[in-house]
Amino acid sequence: MPDLSTLPPDFLWGVATSAYQIEGAARADGRKPSIWDTFCTRPGAIDNGDTGEVACDHYHRWPQDVALMRGLGVGAYRFSVAWPRVRPDGVGRVNPAGLDFYDRLVDALLTAGIRPYVTLYHWDLPQALQDRGGWPRRETAEAFADYAAVVAARLGDRVADWCTVNEPLCIAWIGHLEGRMAPGERDLARAVPAAHHVLLGHGLATAAIRANATRPASIGPVLNLSPIEPASDRPADIAAARRMDGHVNRWWLDPLHGRGYPADMVATYGIEPPVRGDDLAVIAAPTDFLGVNYYFRQVVTDDPDGPAPYARQVPVPGAAHTAMGWEVHPAGLEHLLVEVSQEYAPTRLLVTESGSAWPDVVAADGSVTDTERTDHLERHLAACAAAVGRGAPVAGYFAWSLLDNFEWAYGYDKRFGLVHVDYATQQRTVKASGTRYAETIRAHQRRAATVDTVAVRG
Ligand code: FCB
Repeated sequence: MPDLSTLPPDFLWGVATSAYQIEGAARADGRKPSIWDTFCTRPGAIDNGDTGEVACDHYHRWPQDVALMRGLGVGAYRFSVAWPRVRPDGVGRVNPAGLDFYDRLVDALLTAGIRPYVTLYHWDLPQALQDRGGWPRRETAEAFADYAAVVAARLGDRVADWCTVNEPLCIAWIGHLEGRMAPGERDLARAVPAAHHVLLGHGLATAAIRANATRPASIGPVLNLSPIEPASDRPADIAAARRMDGHVNRWWLDPLHGRGYPADMVATYGIEPPVRGDDLAVIAAPTDFLGVNYYFRQVVTDDPDGPAPYARQVPVPGAAHTAMGWEVHPAGLEHLLVEVSQEYAPTRLLVTESGSAWPDVVAADGSVTDTERTDHLERHLAACAAAVGRGAPVAGYFAWSLLDNFEWAYGYDKRFGLVHVDYATQQRTVKASGTRYAETIRAHQRRAATVDTVAVRG
């Protein structure tokens, strides 16, 4: 096991999922389609023509999944609430059955001693709002805050921890510029306003949660960040790396920390975000933590003929890659956590997602010995511990993911779970990585208890 002794005694050990990736029950109890239900019907959009229609059937099997988490000994569970379950048309009528589902889940988690971390938006925009223009339209940010208020009013007597939006980069750039995710658009002129309205939605929702939750709320956005490096020391590659850093990291971090949009990126896009009134102050409203999702670094080269930001990721010779083709680079996580804490001074950092997909093999006895995932997990935990040793206020780690699930455009082939899911039978099997995670958590708790005892005696 790696040396994790720098992690604070109250370090939060979590697992993460999202609604559309695990719940299934796409038409149950009044849920209406989201942009992902629609995107899944687009020919060629999803590998194997998979959809989230059934997924892990978590909507019906959640008691078993809570029991699994309890067995792993995790202290926190980050899940998302499906907006199209709670407000099927995006605005207007609230669907009580949708809220009831999350209400029961929260109660079960608390009974199991697991802290719920509720993400309000993990990409499943109600299709009805897309039909009216989606995130490029300002009203979507306002509708998001109204929905956040409804959820906070219902769950905010028990839930203390809230993530507003998950990965604005994917929503704006991958969904509206690259077209690889819902709603599948390729238009910078819509992507830039979408980016602004997702950030505005975060700010408005932060206020709505504070106003509607009855217990003190700890709130933060979740960003997927990547360290960026130039592929060579050519000035053009160095400039490309600066642009990619702007596109991936600074475009989100700067406005969230009161610096407004980076001027170099506004110039690169050639499009002003549609900022009105005090939008920038709303976006920069104080939060309680910054959620960081980390999967890979990017080594980039100049790409003048490509799409914005005119920089392209290139393969790293000799590097190891996961089944997603993502480079295994735990040092990038340490680097990110340290850099972000030095540059932006967040009060608390949470690694809200980190994990890896591998072609798991189920042995004849049903076990899954996922050595690569276990190694990946341990090396990323060690990176967190190293970052803490260098002063980064890392307070928790959420492994992506509890379960194998619907990996968006890649469908079910890409398995990220600590727990294997047999989609034909919905049988769950804890993989070796899950067992190792549980052991790591127990070892940390034993160490923390010793530290406490020593402190009391001392
Ligand atoms: C992140 C997403 C998450 C999952 C992982 C692998 O970008 O937030 O839903 O798909 O990637």
